[in-house]
Amino acid sequence: MSRLTVIGAGYVGLVTVACMAELGHDVIAMDLDAEKVGLLREGGVPIYEPGLAELIAANRERIEFTSDPGHAYRAGEFTFVCVDTPPTYSGDADLSRIWQAVDNLPSDEGEHILVTKSTVPVGTGALVQAELARRRYRHISYASNPEFLREGTAIADFMHADRVVVGANDPETASRVGRLYQGVDCPVLSTDVASAEMIKYASNAFLATKISFINEIANVCEATGADVTVVAQGMGMDHRIGPHFLQAGIGYGGSCFPKDVSALKQIAGNSGYHFQLLNAVIEVNELQKRRVIGKLKRHLGDELRGKRIALLGLSFKPNTDDIRQASSIVLAGRLLAEGADVVGYDPIAMENMRALLPTMTYASSGLAALQGADACVLVTEWAEFSTLDWEQAKRSMARPILIDGRNALDGAVLTGIGFTYEGVGTRVKLG
Ligand SMILES: NC(=O)c1ccc[n+]([C@@H]2O[C@H](COP(=O)([O-])OP(=O)(O)OC[C@H]3O[C@@H](n4cnc5c(N)ncnc54)[C@H](O)[C@@H]3O)[C@@H](O)[C@H]2O)c1
Repeated sequence: MSRLTVIGAGYVGLVTVACMAELGHDVIAMDLDAEKVGLLREGGVPIYEPGLAELIAANRERIEFTSDPGHAYRAGEFTFVCVDTPPTYSGDADLSRIWQAVDNLPSDEGEHILVTKSTVPVGTGALVQAELARRRYRHISYASNPEFLREGTAIADFMHADRVVVGANDPETASRVGRLYQGVDCPVLSTDVASAEMIKYASNAFLATKISFINEIANVCEATGADVTVVAQGMGMDHRIGPHFLQAGIGYGGSCFPKDVSALKQIAGNSGYHFQLLNAVIEVNELQKRRVIGKLKRHLGDELRGKRIALLGLSFKPNTDDIRQASSIVLAGRLLAEGADVVGYDPIAMENMRALLPTMTYASSGLAALQGADACVLVTEWAEFSTLDWEQAKRSMARPILIDGRNALDGAVLTGIGFTYEGVGTRVKLG
């Protein structure tokens, strides 16, 4: 078993800490955010991720939390960099935190492997290795080990991964990093650093493309009378296509897809290639979020000013408190700009959303949000909305208009109750 240092105690960092400890390694988690570290030391977990708190607690004797870089970097044989790489105004990835991590590396310790788990543009590993060489850090070798977990199912995704990708320039480094995952039953793909970096971007861009594709099919279904849910089912039965990521809706969000698609577009552009397809993927996604406004206007008239619109679900997807690039943000922003009275509810993400959009009204439950509403938009398909008392909701709404942005509810049942129900590309409409 090995001693690992994990830099950055966010979604990826904490899941890496918990799962690597579960695999038997000793792990030191370092974050510059002292408040976060204090909370972790006291047994708290700063993010909502199912099973994470329990897994950290179960392996607590193998986990240490610190905000002291000097201590953390010296302690591990492997340093996993899990810092955030947010988009800059140009759409490129901001690598300042990666370089901060490199700057903190010990200059004089024993053999050490630096492993980048953060999503970084192709070529970043080469730049980091050049910097290590310039500093004559011969004791440090480098590997790229991109992470593919999904928030909401992150523990299972890590422990039952489809694959582990390790990019390194020498086979010994690749095999040492790959061996850390013993206990995870999946293939380890060893490759060069640049290809490993590209696998991450290409995977996310492909999934985002699938979503934008089915969303466009949904829009054409709306215009032609076909039903996208059965169209997707029929497409997914073809094993060359597969059923995943064919759920039409009001656009993808989150901390990864939007920034990674945009970063890949910039990576291509910066190297002289115009990645046309990705432009369309991004544009379709942005328009998809805004189509909801058009639907609301069709039901409520062009004047949304003063209309009470309830948004059910604010996180970018269920089972996470992450609101980064969530469709709810664009939707709430557009509705507020139209002068609507926007009331939101989310089982977990309210605090994060309130900090970002204090001008929106927040309700204490789904039913409370619907009280007196002129229309409701289901934005995030949390399970509790499927079991909501929709009959009571209908009685309490000013107008029973329901836009199901995730095709998560039973349109026929809701229409039977008396709702004017509209999904995305589905046939059940206008009760
Ligand atoms: N969130 C996901 O679902 C997901 C999935 C796969 C890959 N990724 C990638 O993993 C990386 C991390 O994403 P995340 O969602 O975990 O980010 P995050 O914002 O949740 O966490 C990043 C953490 O790093 C800390 N940090 C920043 N600079 C630091 C430094 N120099 N030293 C120590 N700590 C530092 C921050 O305080 C924060 O706690 C990103 O590159 C992201 O694209 C994310």
